[in-house]
Amino acid sequence: LSREAFPAGFVFGTAASAYQVEGMALKDGRGPSIWDVFVKIPGEIANNATADVSVDEYHRYKEDVDIMKKMNFDAYRFSISWSRIFPNGAGKVNWEGVSYYNRLINYMLKKGVTPYANLYHYDLPEALEKQYNGLLSPKVVEAYADYADFCFKTFGDRVKNWFTFNEPRVVAALGYDDGTFAPGRCTNCSAGGNSATEPYIVAHNLILSHAAAVKRYREKYQAKQKGRIGILLDFVWYEALTSSTADQAAAQRARDFHVGWFLHPIIYGEYPKTIQEIVKERLPKFTEEEVKMVKGSIDYVGINQYTTYYMYDPHQPEPQKPTSYANDWHVGYAYERDGVPIGPRAHSNWLYIVPWGMYKAVSYVKEHYCNPTVILSENGMDDPGNITLPKGLHDTTRINYYKSYITELKKAIDDGANVIGYFAWSLLDNFEWKSGYTSRFGIVYVDFTNLKRYPKMSAYWFRDMLKRKN
Ligand code: GCO
Repeated sequence: LSREAFPAGFVFGTAASAYQVEGMALKDGRGPSIWDVFVKIPGEIANNATADVSVDEYHRYKEDVDIMKKMNFDAYRFSISWSRIFPNGAGKVNWEGVSYYNRLINYMLKKGVTPYANLYHYDLPEALEKQYNGLLSPKVVEAYADYADFCFKTFGDRVKNWFTFNEPRVVAALGYDDGTFAPGRCTNCSAGGNSATEPYIVAHNLILSHAAAVKRYREKYQAKQKGRIGILLDFVWYEALTSSTADQAAAQRARDFHVGWFLHPIIYGEYPKTIQEIVKERLPKFTEEEVKMVKGSIDYVGINQYTTYYMYDPHQPEPQKPTSYANDWHVGYAYERDGVPIGPRAHSNWLYIVPWGMYKAVSYVKEHYCNPTVILSENGMDDPGNITLPKGLHDTTRINYYKSYITELKKAIDDGANVIGYFAWSLLDNFEWKSGYTSRFGIVYVDFTNLKRYPKMSAYWFRDMLKRKN
């Protein structure tokens, strides 16, 4: 497998997010985000870890960009912390925060690493949460559009590749349905019935915020700056557990509630029929004006693809014990079929190594959403956080993971999928949300006691795979 096997101009990069790697969480003028509040709640994060320091990319970004370059990566997908720019979510600008991103972007350009900037990776300014319940309020749409506008104006002369949100489904479902992510509003845990209304209000406001930012970019900046803008969607591939109609329908409902929830409105201007039929009056409506703003609001779409689950309809005679149950979706997740596991398990309890799921997910997007321009914006696996040096560098399983998933991605491209880039998650071991530092997703090992970086074997595998022949 080599870079030459991919279309000319295909971009390879690594991805990370502000809260997970920057550190300096409440320093140099950054205001608190909802994650700074959430991590302080005892028991929410493994070992009650926080990202106050994390891996300190705020100070060590030059070393990190140098490693990217050394490993022959073309690009870096980072995120901008809204509350580092606007500590109160709006109004007063924190110019030290602006300077940090200017330093990072300018150094990337100096070293020939192309910036891909994501405007939101879970870290809503706490001030907006306090002021009007943040994403639950329509007020967030203009606040977000103003923040995005400021970033386009300030960084858009050098940043030509934008994303509005990372995994809006995770924001809505984990933040407002099961409450496992910030702001930790659990609207359905006890109910056990259909999911409540809050996740659908949040998803709706995220879609409107995305579209409002894209409208600003297209009306005010794109002609001059000649950049592109899209959104990042997570897409676990869902395969029917059996060929029964009920299980096939369960798998399709899962795809609609997972990626269709956002991609359907963005491509077709309405929610998937399955969601409309199941969620009914709990589902917000788009006005005519909003449909016009939302439909077609991407130049490309980022797809985060890690793994696959087997889906079945729990109302059927259960071939297996349900491993978990999603309310509105009326689906059960299984990790094996006829006693055969989907694939080997990575360290974390949600991640199975299932390369063929990459081909299926990317081909599904091609077939069901008019073959949009796709960036495979996240893919990777983790190791236990307590793995020590030098063992932690011998990540042969991770090399096999990347080799097999990238091979499946290439197959999807050969079969017509319009994919223009691939980003590995992640360059460094970093703060893995609820898992804190008990998971290591990096191709570079970080000793969390002194923050020293040690490229793993997988980093050198990428260096060789990405080496330009000519
Ligand atoms: C995301 C992911 C990342 C995770 C990665 C590994 O939202 O893109 O949650 O932030 O760190 O997917 O779990």
